[in-house]
Amino acid sequence: MSNGFETLAIHAGQEPDPLTGAVVPPIYATSTYKQDGVGGLRSGYEYSRSANPTRTALEAALAAVEGGARGLAFASGLAAEDTLLRTVCKPQDHVIIPGDAYGGTYRLFSKVHERWGLHYDPVPLHDLDAVATAMTQKTRVVWVETPTNPLLGIADIAALAQLAHDNGALLVVDNTFASPYLQQPLALGADVVVHSTTKYVGGHSDVVGGALVAADAGLGEELAFHQNSIGGVAGPFDAWLTLRGLKTLGVRMDRHCANAERVVDLLLSHPKVTEVLYPGLPDHPGHVVASKQMRRFGGMVSFRVAGGEAEAVAVCDRAKLFTLGESLGGVESLIEHPGRMTHASAAGSPLEVPADLVRLSVGIETADDLLADLTQALG
Ligand SMILES: Cc1ncc(COP(=O)(O)O)c(C=O)c1O
Repeated sequence: MSNGFETLAIHAGQEPDPLTGAVVPPIYATSTYKQDGVGGLRSGYEYSRSANPTRTALEAALAAVEGGARGLAFASGLAAEDTLLRTVCKPQDHVIIPGDAYGGTYRLFSKVHERWGLHYDPVPLHDLDAVATAMTQKTRVVWVETPTNPLLGIADIAALAQLAHDNGALLVVDNTFASPYLQQPLALGADVVVHSTTKYVGGHSDVVGGALVAADAGLGEELAFHQNSIGGVAGPFDAWLTLRGLKTLGVRMDRHCANAERVVDLLLSHPKVTEVLYPGLPDHPGHVVASKQMRRFGGMVSFRVAGGEAEAVAVCDRAKLFTLGESLGGVESLIEHPGRMTHASAAGSPLEVPADLVRLSVGIETADDLLADLTQALG
């Protein structure tokens, strides 16, 4: 098979069903499988925590679109992250995390894994000297988000991979914001890609899921062992919905990017907007790196408003077509106040976000309608 991105997204792991020829992999709603004599498994399936054909199809497709050796699908992005940390780290290890990251990821490190002796340091990842200085002999993982949630900071994946590997650490990249269509971390030297497939991969705000894709088959096998041992797997219906979303990722992302560019133009010219955060802007500090490692600059846009927190909250409240809600990456546009919503768990920490910040997940509706709604919401 040829290996263009869209071709892989639509066909990898998705051969027509051998029994019926069904073009779409069926939802195998079964917990167990008949054995032909003890140990006589058909195609290796024995119990759906260990493996389920619908999940297998999704896992193969995810591995293909990220260019990895092994893909694994989980019940949520955080379930994937937790399994990864428990696989590659042990008590007293050290992890470098981004100085700006999804609040739930920060909470996993600060409130869950630290209690089990996993130490972490938040470091601004655009500053390679700061990352090199923060490395210790116990550093096992450099954890990257790029673009970051919600400040849309950019980290240089290839440079960080080199730095991590020179120090015997793994480079993990949360690729949720870019999606594999816009950015391929494994090709840039990352060891593992993490996804909240809840976002662009699923793409329709109708399913929660997560994924890991490992570059190396051996590490993939260890992750699969822990996935089965810990048990946070994607169910077959969720896997099916996520796979359906993945098929159209490329065309959706192109429209997300085009609409985001229109939104950025509007915000730049609006008197109430004091700063627009978007890696596609030539004066964004990560623009050169983003241009090197991303196909386009994505559908997420953050901005700061004059009038502080009260006005940022008021803008969110006035928006109509932009739905006020957490999450991102779906076909419908969303607006939120990170300080009080998605990143409330980072309040008072080094990852606290500015109070006057508004985050947009620009959907694929008619661009003119989105611009009209934002104009009225900004007042
Ligand atoms: C960048 C990023 N990583 C990970 C997660 C966690 O994923 P989930 O909510 O699917 O557990 C999120 C959720 O918002 C996210 O935005």
